[in-house]
Amino acid sequence: MTGSSPKKRVPARAKHASSGASAPGERKARGSKSAPSVMKRLQSPGSQHRFSMQMREQGRKIGFVPTMGALHAGHLALVRKARSQNGVVVVSIFVNPLQFGPGEDYGRYPRDLARDMDRAREAGVDAVFVPEVADLYPEGFTTRVGVGPMAERLCGAERPGHFDGVCTVVLKLLGIVQPHRLYLGQKDAQQLIILERMLADLNVGVKVVGCPTVREKDGLALSSRNRYLTEQERREAPRLYETLRMAQREILLGNERDPNRLRARMHDAIIRDTGFEIEYIALVDPESLEERRVLEGRTLIAIAARLGVGRLIDNILINVPGGRMAEGIRLPRGKA
Ligand code: PAJ
Repeated sequence: MTGSSPKKRVPARAKHASSGASAPGERKARGSKSAPSVMKRLQSPGSQHRFSMQMREQGRKIGFVPTMGALHAGHLALVRKARSQNGVVVVSIFVNPLQFGPGEDYGRYPRDLARDMDRAREAGVDAVFVPEVADLYPEGFTTRVGVGPMAERLCGAERPGHFDGVCTVVLKLLGIVQPHRLYLGQKDAQQLIILERMLADLNVGVKVVGCPTVREKDGLALSSRNRYLTEQERREAPRLYETLRMAQREILLGNERDPNRLRARMHDAIIRDTGFEIEYIALVDPESLEERRVLEGRTLIAIAARLGVGRLIDNILINVPGGRMAEGIRLPRGKA
């Protein structure tokens, strides 16, 4: 340790904010280029939209981080990235009923708004959009985004309608927040891929910034749902990432090129001496989410598994070396 005097902790936002503090809700001087110096909490779509339009009129770039709250270091990494690239950072906190199936954890999903507001403030967020269900889905609401086949693969197989619900809410949030950039975690790779597809398909001019998965020291990907794990399950949970790394190593070292055999090895490695029940192990093309029959090119390896009452997902994106060679040794259909 150095003997330097401890530095006073300055919220990240303060570095971007004006020197003159303003009370909550107070209007900044017209034409002011500074970001709001007090974090706003906005509930109605109208108030969030007005705030965003004001910021845009001032020539500010808006970075947007949609979340369901219970903020952890993974969410805050997205906020930091947004902070570094935009004049204004908006976070939404909304547990979206449309993306939960019957019997899923909508009712018991962790909610702690006071703590989330503190974490957002410390991370330098300018505005937190916290709508109620009736603000986003008022009586008479019927429209849904229909994603198509990509939403039926991987997590979509067990969670019908989930990605339609995600896309519907994100499209609504984008209409309200009007950001320039949208920050999403690679932790939810299928969600990221489907949302990018939707934005391209529907000509929504927002740039997606994908951010790497933030992990615990032992490799477990941070998730608001990790709190469902018992102590014993928590000890077993890092097995998912260990197994992804094993698969990555085996592919990169050239020891394994057969996706079926690799999947079987991964399955055994995960369930050995643990309570895991595998939902899927997928080796897919990261654009179409179609299964790779031969391991080649950019490949997403994704796992979903149940552990006790919890459901964990994790993934890793690799570039299989020697793709051309793999082309050459591809077996005819049905012989692999
Ligand atoms: P939520 O699970 O709260 O996640 C919000 C964002 O944080 C997502 O983009 C997610 O991928 C990212 N994230 C979560 N854990 C992460 C980790 N360990 N490392 C990096 N990023 C992580 O995903 C949702 O909410 C919802 O589906 C939403 C997009 C908000 C729509 O309702």
